[in-house]
Amino acid sequence: MAYDLDQFIADTRASLKRDPGPAGRETVRANLERLLANKDFVARTCGDDAPAGLKVLYEDKDLGFQVLAHINDKARKSPPHDHGDSWAIYGQATKYTDMIEWERTGGDNKHAQLKEAKRYRLDPGHAGIYQDGKIHSIDYPDRARFIRVTGTNLDKIQRVRFDLATGEVHQMTPQQAT
Ligand SMILES: [Fe+2]
Repeated sequence: MAYDLDQFIADTRASLKRDPGPAGRETVRANLERLLANKDFVARTCGDDAPAGLKVLYEDKDLGFQVLAHINDKARKSPPHDHGDSWAIYGQATKYTDMIEWERTGGDNKHAQLKEAKRYRLDPGHAGIYQDGKIHSIDYPDRARFIRVTGTNLDKIQRVRFDLATGEVHQMTPQQAT
């Protein structure tokens, strides 16, 4: 039987209960790639007929993690940002996402210097992980869709984004997705 969302959720709960740290999340990342290999799941959640927008597929009341479907229609390039005290896993469902990971080399609460650390493309079936405090930016074309797993509801925690031109650090507001 194909690996489905219910199994992924059960495995995520088990992994994070066993080890809520980076190694447990890495298991979640690998399992998300198994889920994305399920063509029926991808078609159902991220296919052409899926209504555009952000859909919460699951929220764990006990551990707090969320599984989100980002049904994007329009291309978008995000500024570098973190995920606050949480972590995030991005699993590509359709098209691709170009990822840049950044290192903070200096600054304070209001300004920061960032240095590009890594650049790669997430193709369908691939998942990337951004552990606590990691800074990344994303760039995807029209109709690129992905499944994202976050350690908690990111709308409820403090997060920052960075203006590359000025170095300014800005608090992110809820629903500033990704
Ligand atoms: Fe992000």
